[in-house]
Amino acid sequence: MGTIRKLLAKVTPAKAYKLHAYTGAGGQFDYERYRKAQVAGNKAKLGKVWVKRETVALIARYIEARGIKPEFGLCHGTRRGMEQKWFAEELGCRVLGTEISDTATQFPDTIEHDFHETRPEWIGACDFIYSNSFDHAYDPEKALTAWVSCLKPHGLIVMEHTSGHEAAATSEMDPFGAALTLMPYLVTTWGKGRFHVAEILDFPHPKKTGYSKALVVEKRR
Ligand SMILES: C[S@@+](CC[C@H](N)C(=O)[O-])C[C@H]1O[C@@H](n2cnc3c(N)ncnc32)[C@H](O)[C@@H]1O
Repeated sequence: MGTIRKLLAKVTPAKAYKLHAYTGAGGQFDYERYRKAQVAGNKAKLGKVWVKRETVALIARYIEARGIKPEFGLCHGTRRGMEQKWFAEELGCRVLGTEISDTATQFPDTIEHDFHETRPEWIGACDFIYSNSFDHAYDPEKALTAWVSCLKPHGLIVMEHTSGHEAAATSEMDPFGAALTLMPYLVTTWGKGRFHVAEILDFPHPKKTGYSKALVVEKRR
């Protein structure tokens, strides 16, 4: 995390990037503070669904158009679990969701799990990974590196990035935010030649001033 801060301080204005620090009394990273903030936010918004069915359908068609016949996918930070349900319906494959909150057990195909970590059975097992919750990462490099380790060689990650994922939107609940234009730079830097942004998808957005995009992240082949 420190390395990225130093790197960005050199190349970009502070307004383009923000990573909220969860520090404890001694100034060290306080994981419990992070987890509690996420669980509180999850419970406060438990009735809401952010992901749109139309977006899932468009991403599913994109995955098919790339010649991928998915058997297994993961979705990260899924709250009510609608994305894993819709991807499973659209693509006819098994899809699991991760959710850090203990509310995970209320929703089908949802595992209580912090997406910064992997599970042995997921390593090299995913045809695709979808998330609109990357802005909830306390350490985006760690999270994305973990996700990439779960991809099959032809697999891809689709990360939604909208005007609501920018630095101005960061808080104790949404710790990471960056300008869209900075994201390919960040991902390429974190990838260290192992992964990169291969494409940027564009979706309809209801407001003229907003945007709705998704970064497609792939392993180097
Ligand atoms: C903005 S909400 C999006 C929920 C869902 N994807 C949707 O579209 O409705 C982010 C969700 O990610 C969960 N979350 C936050 N940090 C997480 C982590 N490290 N691992 C797994 N889930 C996390 C939160 O609890 C919350 O439910």
